[in-house]
Amino acid sequence: MPNPSLLILPGDGIGPEVMAEVRRIIDWFGANRDLAFDVSEGLVGGASYDAHGTPLTDETMAEAQEADAVLLGAVGGPQYDDLDFPVKPERGLLRLRKEMDLYANLRPAQCFDALADFSSLKRDVVAGLDLMIVRELTSGIYFGEPRGIMDDNEGGRVGINTQRYTTEEIRRVARSAFELARRRGNKVCSMEKANVMESGILWREEVQWVHDNEYPDVDLSHMYADAGAMQIVRWPKQFDVIVTDNLFGDLLSDAAAMLTGSLGMLPSASLGAPMANGRPKALYEPVHGSAPDIAGQGKANPIACILSFAMALRYSFDKGDEADRLEKAVEQVLADGVRTGDLIGEDGTKPVSTSGMGDAILAALDKG
Ligand code: NAD
Ligand code: IPM
Ligand code: MN
Repeated sequence: MPNPSLLILPGDGIGPEVMAEVRRIIDWFGANRDLAFDVSEGLVGGASYDAHGTPLTDETMAEAQEADAVLLGAVGGPQYDDLDFPVKPERGLLRLRKEMDLYANLRPAQCFDALADFSSLKRDVVAGLDLMIVRELTSGIYFGEPRGIMDDNEGGRVGINTQRYTTEEIRRVARSAFELARRRGNKVCSMEKANVMESGILWREEVQWVHDNEYPDVDLSHMYADAGAMQIVRWPKQFDVIVTDNLFGDLLSDAAAMLTGSLGMLPSASLGAPMANGRPKALYEPVHGSAPDIAGQGKANPIACILSFAMALRYSFDKGDEADRLEKAVEQVLADGVRTGDLIGEDGTKPVSTSGMGDAILAALDKG
């Protein structure tokens, strides 16, 4: 059997910095756990634009389609903000998601005990939190037509985006959420705005249909997304799995990130339909962006990207034990008080660098 293939796309800003630490972790598993990958690297985002004039080449797109899993760092940065819309760095990432049809974006928000006092919320509210947001990733207002900036025929302009969901698009992501819930706390809360949007009415009806016909054993509730945002901050432990659309999922997952202490902690998995080898099409990336304010300074927290690799071990390679092992190593390092700058308050603790955090996690893996 050939080794499974991993395509690594470090991207921009802190992307390459955090990905360098993931490369060391991958090497560790190859050397110590008989778990070798065929790793190749490519360009995405601004890095690809600088080299090729496009945020994703057709060749890299094709490699991503072939890979057993793709790992991505982050894309974007202020130097690219004025580029034409179709060649903006973010378009590269959106093309990957759309063409690989990665419709289910899993964004777990787990609060490690060692960080419970660092969250902006009270310890009580976040300690022990284990929440999974399932964000629809290939449709909705991110991709709906018509879209664009046009003349409004009255001397002004109009900016248009369209929220659009089909029955099947809603049903398939709902199934992903129910499947996950069965392996966790068996509860799904679906969020939309059925009070003001027709697409929200359809969303609610179709999620309910999937529940009633296929997953009646799972506890399903519905919430308006604005109230959901409030509840995520008020008492997040009421939730097990949240399923929601592309835009609401984007907003709610950034909010949930702060429950864990830092955006630098949150991994994600974007999954599509199974390939011929039975593995799902998959892309793994941290929830955070390219963090231009700290890029190039060795300050970035690599944990979100490292935990994204742990998700790859679990969801693409059926290595749940190894994923547990890596997550435990991260937990141990945090319990030992190792902190990058984003995890430090006013208490005078000295931060470690990005590679210092990598060193500590490798040492914890060694200790087993
Ligand atoms: P961001 O996530 O890059 O940064 C927000 C804040 O969080 C910054 O203060 C940053 O320093 C901090 N932060 C983020 N990740 C961190 C880490 N690992 N360690 C320590 N601190 C961290 O969001 P932004 O500033 O709104 O966006 C910057 C650029 O990134 C934009 O071009 C945006 O489009 C892009 N972006 C890309 C992705 C992605 O590639 N998936 C996601 C979000 C934003
Ligand atoms: C994310 C990001 C992306 C999104 C951008 C960079 C396209 O914010 O992954 O959360 O909006 O989906
Ligand atoms: Mn986002």
